[in-house]
Amino acid sequence: MKPLFKRGLALAALSLAFASAVHAQAFPDNKPVTMVVPFAAGGPTDVVARMLAIPMGKALNTTVTVENTVGAGGTIASARVARAAPTGHTIYLHHMGMATAVSLYRKLSFDPLKDFEYIGQVVDVPMTLLARKDFPANNYAELISYIKANKEKVSLANAGLGAVSHLCGLLFMSSIGVDLTTVPYKGTGPAMNDLLGGQVDLLCDQTTQTVPMIKEGRIKVYGVTTTKRLSALPNVPTLDEQGNKGFEVKVWHGMYAPKGTPKDAIDKLNAAMRAALADPTVKQRLADLSSEIPAADKLTPEGLRTHLEAEIKKWGPVITKAGIYAD
Ligand code: MLT
Repeated sequence: MKPLFKRGLALAALSLAFASAVHAQAFPDNKPVTMVVPFAAGGPTDVVARMLAIPMGKALNTTVTVENTVGAGGTIASARVARAAPTGHTIYLHHMGMATAVSLYRKLSFDPLKDFEYIGQVVDVPMTLLARKDFPANNYAELISYIKANKEKVSLANAGLGAVSHLCGLLFMSSIGVDLTTVPYKGTGPAMNDLLGGQVDLLCDQTTQTVPMIKEGRIKVYGVTTTKRLSALPNVPTLDEQGNKGFEVKVWHGMYAPKGTPKDAIDKLNAAMRAALADPTVKQRLADLSSEIPAADKLTPEGLRTHLEAEIKKWGPVITKAGIYAD
C-alpha cells in the first residue's frame, strides 16, 4: 500500500472513531442544566434550589442554573417542565404542591403521575406561624383572641392555591373556626417582603426562609407546625403544645425531570442530588434551618414516586371535604 493511501485510511478511521465518540457522548455533556422552581426568587423553595445548584453542578461537571417560573400555585412551572425536552437538561424542584394540585385544580395541563420522571425526594421543612413585627398579639393565646375579635381586619398572606403557605393558612383558619382575608403572592419571598414592610398581617411559611428573620427579631412568631420543637428555634413552642392539638404541617420536596428523560441521565442527576445533600456546607445550612434530609430510601426515583402517590391519596379527601378548588 502506498504510504499516502495508508495515512488517509488511518485518518478516516480516527475521524470515524471521534464521530462515534461524540455521538455516544452521554449526559452530562457541556450544556447547562436548568433547575425550574415554581415560586419567586428569595423564597423557601428558591433557597433550597440555590443551595443545591452549585454542588450539583460540580458533581455533573456542568452549570446548574435556577429558573423561577412563577404563578398559579406552582402549576405553571409544572406544565412548563412537563413539556420540556427530556434530555436531562431541565430538572424541577417542587414541594408537596405537586400532590395537592391534583385535587385543588379541576383542570391541570399536566399529570404528576404520567408526565414526569422522578429523581428523588430532597428535604423536609417545617413551617412557622408569623405576624408583622407590630401586630398587636404577643403570643399564641393573644393571637387567637385578637383574630376572633377582629377577623374582618386581619389579613393572611399566601403563595396562591397549591402553595403550602395557603394550605397551612387554611388548616389554621379551620382549626380555630375563622375565615380571614387572604392575600395571594407569587411566592412567600414577596409575601415576606410585605410582612416585613407591614402591608400584610400574618403568614405561615417554611423555616428555610423564616429562621434568620425570626432570630433577628424582624417578625413575630407564634409557633412551629411540627409536634416537636425545632433545634433552630428551641424557644418557639409548637402550635400543638399551645392547645391547637394535632396541628402538623411538614413540607416535603421532590426533584423531577420531564417524562422520557433517559434512565442514564436520571441516575446521574440522582447521584448529583445525593452528592449535594451530602456536602458538609449544605448539610450544616439545612440543619441551621431545621430542615431534614429524608432517609436514604426516599432519596431515590422510586422513593419519590411512591411518596407522591401516597400524598395524592392522602390530600384528596381532605381537600374535597374542605371544598377548595380552582378552575
Ligand atoms: C415559596 O417558595 O415561595 C413557597 O414554597 C411557596 C409556598 O408557600 O408554597
